[in-house]
Amino acid sequence: MGLPLDGKEIILGVTGGIAAYKSCELVRGLRENGASVSVVMTQAAAKFISPLTFSALSGREAKTELFEPQGMPHIDMTARADAFIVAPATANIIGKAANGIADDLLSTMLMAAKCPVLFAPAMNCRMFDSPALQNNLIILQGRGAFFVGPEEGPMACNEFGWGRMSEPDDILRAAISLFREKTLSGAKVLVSAGPTYEDLDPVRFIGNRSTGRMGFAVAKEALLRGAHVTLIYGPTALVPPSGVKAIAVRSAAEMSEAAHEAFRDADIAIMAAAVSDFAPAEYSASKIKKDGRQNYSLKLIKTPDILSAFGKEKKRGQVVVGFAAETDNAGPNAIKKLKEKNADIIAANLIGKDTGFGGLNNRLYIYDKKGLVRDTGLVSKDEAARQLLDVAAGLPQLKEIKSKGRATR
Ligand code: CTP
Repeated sequence: MGLPLDGKEIILGVTGGIAAYKSCELVRGLRENGASVSVVMTQAAAKFISPLTFSALSGREAKTELFEPQGMPHIDMTARADAFIVAPATANIIGKAANGIADDLLSTMLMAAKCPVLFAPAMNCRMFDSPALQNNLIILQGRGAFFVGPEEGPMACNEFGWGRMSEPDDILRAAISLFREKTLSGAKVLVSAGPTYEDLDPVRFIGNRSTGRMGFAVAKEALLRGAHVTLIYGPTALVPPSGVKAIAVRSAAEMSEAAHEAFRDADIAIMAAAVSDFAPAEYSASKIKKDGRQNYSLKLIKTPDILSAFGKEKKRGQVVVGFAAETDNAGPNAIKKLKEKNADIIAANLIGKDTGFGGLNNRLYIYDKKGLVRDTGLVSKDEAARQLLDVAAGLPQLKEIKSKGRATR
């Protein structure tokens, strides 16, 4: 049997963090799994570890210079690469990649790369928490970049928190999973993502804390598996991954209309959006004034439940996947939702400090009609999406598409 990375050309970018030493092991793991590895280092990385070490481990000269007498390595190498890994990825390289700064070999190559890019962030926990870094992650995720880690733990600077680079084995696994089997080849996948905003007047709305990250990760994962993806998303700072048919909506009613249109032709609908369950009964065209009132009651009416409607309308072969965001009793609530909404799969997640809305990580408890089939553990939203689509692609309806092609409905 072939190795998982047989014939793959991988560029490994190493930046200046204490975790650079762990990347030596990563080079070894990549090569043991069949890949050819070209290492590119920043000047700061070369202060932590000698390029000679990476040259010896990769069997190729580790590059550090942008300008070489014989040609332009950043263009030549990126044109041939099947994947680009940056490990460790400092706040600096993440900032440069997000904002289009190309002032050394590695940042220039990242800008020229067309292949999937996987970042393994490594930095001080307060740097990781900073709005600037978090914003840069959003930008890169929106463009389709992949992330592994960081992990929580003790730092080189004697602090404790999120920012440790993932272990080389985890980075290796994430790299291997970039080369997905095309388990959804040709399938039409509809994904809903983000919050909905229900307008009260021209100034105010009812919304929720969803960022859209989970749904966007699902859309990206479906693309990697060869699907045609329609992403219907509510207001979010994220930029849809290139390659999807992206439809921006605002309210539950707009999402419902767009989703029904797309569902007619879909093989699978994955409803990751946090749709508002209620909307104001009336919209005021002019701003609602206080007018001396001490309290104010709003009349709300139920919005269309898109997932339930799909559960009722689905035709033979169509698969419906819902999410259940719960603060407690995730299991029983997920099973109840699965039955009531006639879904094929429900992914339940607890809304907590480290999971659910807003964060980079999530823990999904995935249920099908038989019960709990997968607990993803606390993982990145990319990894949670990968596991969810593994389960979905294993359903008989979707296996049939892969073996016989799409049925016409
Ligand atoms: N959903 C939907 N349309 C709605 C409300 C929810 O399609 N109007 C979908 C969500 O996208 C998600 C699932 O239903 O996939 C579960 O949503 P959630 O709000 O957790 O559950 P509800 O069924 O609304 O129940 P409750 O709010 O009582 O927990």
